[in-house]
Amino acid sequence: MAESRAACSAMTNSYTVSIHYDRRLYRHDIAGSMVHARMLARQGIIGEEDARLIVEGLSSIRDEIEGGHFPWQEELEDIHMNVESRLHELIGPPAGKLHTGRSRNDQVAVDMRMYARDVLKDACNGIAKLQRALVSQGDAHREVVMPGYTHMQRAQTVLLAHHLLAYFEMLQRDRTRMEECHRRANVLPLGSGALAGVPYPLDRDWVAAELGFDGVTANSMDAVSDRDYLLDFHAAAATCMMHMSRLSEELVLWSSSEFGFVAMAPKFSTGSSIMPQKRNPDFAEIARGKTGRVYGSLMALLTVMKGLPLTYNRDMQEDKEGFFDASDTLLATLEVMASVVSTMEVKAERMEQAASDSFMLATDLADYLVGKGMPFRQAHGVVRELCAHAHSRGLTLQQLPMQDYRGFSELFEEDVYRITPRGSAEARNVTGGTAPNQVRLALEEAKRCLGEEE
Ligand code: ARG
Repeated sequence: MAESRAACSAMTNSYTVSIHYDRRLYRHDIAGSMVHARMLARQGIIGEEDARLIVEGLSSIRDEIEGGHFPWQEELEDIHMNVESRLHELIGPPAGKLHTGRSRNDQVAVDMRMYARDVLKDACNGIAKLQRALVSQGDAHREVVMPGYTHMQRAQTVLLAHHLLAYFEMLQRDRTRMEECHRRANVLPLGSGALAGVPYPLDRDWVAAELGFDGVTANSMDAVSDRDYLLDFHAAAATCMMHMSRLSEELVLWSSSEFGFVAMAPKFSTGSSIMPQKRNPDFAEIARGKTGRVYGSLMALLTVMKGLPLTYNRDMQEDKEGFFDASDTLLATLEVMASVVSTMEVKAERMEQAASDSFMLATDLADYLVGKGMPFRQAHGVVRELCAHAHSRGLTLQQLPMQDYRGFSELFEEDVYRITPRGSAEARNVTGGTAPNQVRLALEEAKRCLGEEE
């Protein structure tokens, strides 16, 4: 009987403990506690000497943790209890005063918000690093043209830099999402107590300022049960991973023999154990693959939250593992992709060769006829038939004789042969288009944008 009760209590405890993952909140937990103790003394709620002992004790605990000799105790469940219990061992009864006017509910909320702020800053830096890699590849290959695709079919000529800058734009949106999320996370929940506020004259604004928060939460019940800022992060991270996954997918395709547009640096590809000729783009593949778990964490947290009545419920402890995993994955992927992009070799001649596929100039031919007065819809039909004809004769549009052109429309003249892939790109001279001078402006704007936010 006694034995089964012991087994049962071990099981119960191991089911509810979180110390093996929430210990990574230690720095934030300790920083929050130090400021809380100092505020309690400033407000005359605890003595100055007690506060001093508490702060000193907490600082030794931080040293113990960082030195790897902190006596972690699983039965103490989480980081908050581990730290507080150790504080008792180190300084005795004054330790009991730290938790005055505080609950683990507002404590864990403040820890997570502080941790999230760090992650969000790292994410913004990581995104900027990948953007920089894209811009510098684009800049180094300003003149290179390549096929642009729709439906994965060669469609129209674009500049490689234009293609890369498309990812810059996606990442720019990701970065603003992270900044926005930081703004919403950066509000202090401490002072909310368990759920209703606390019966002590806390100076929440002072604590907020000391801990670098922009302000304090407005409703104690919301404050201890709000995980929206984590959901915002998860959603932003999922979108950012999706963008990197699309980039990875393109790099995987581009590094195949069929495309041959890029070669991954040896450091970012590995050989096959059986086929000696192969260089596999593993890093890009793994980045693409890791996207799934980040999506998973978003769904997991949404599901954890959906049925919870106000206020704190223990279910919310399940916010952590997914968040740590998603943030680790996002930051590592940003780092890897920045290196993959900046070290890849661009095979400009292969891209140019693919771009010389004359059928990609079909739209330009239609626009040529429009320039000579034919309505676009009609021109589209004429060129479609012209292309089918050239194709059946096994000729490119450049090789097709003038009399064949003329057979389709009297408007065709010798100047039709002056339509080239580069000319096609040059013609798309609208804001946001692929004309070289537009792309040059876009590169400048991208650099300005990166420089400003450095
Ligand atoms: N480990 C808990 C969590 O992560 C801390 C808060 C516990 N609060 C409580 N009332 N049991 O959510």
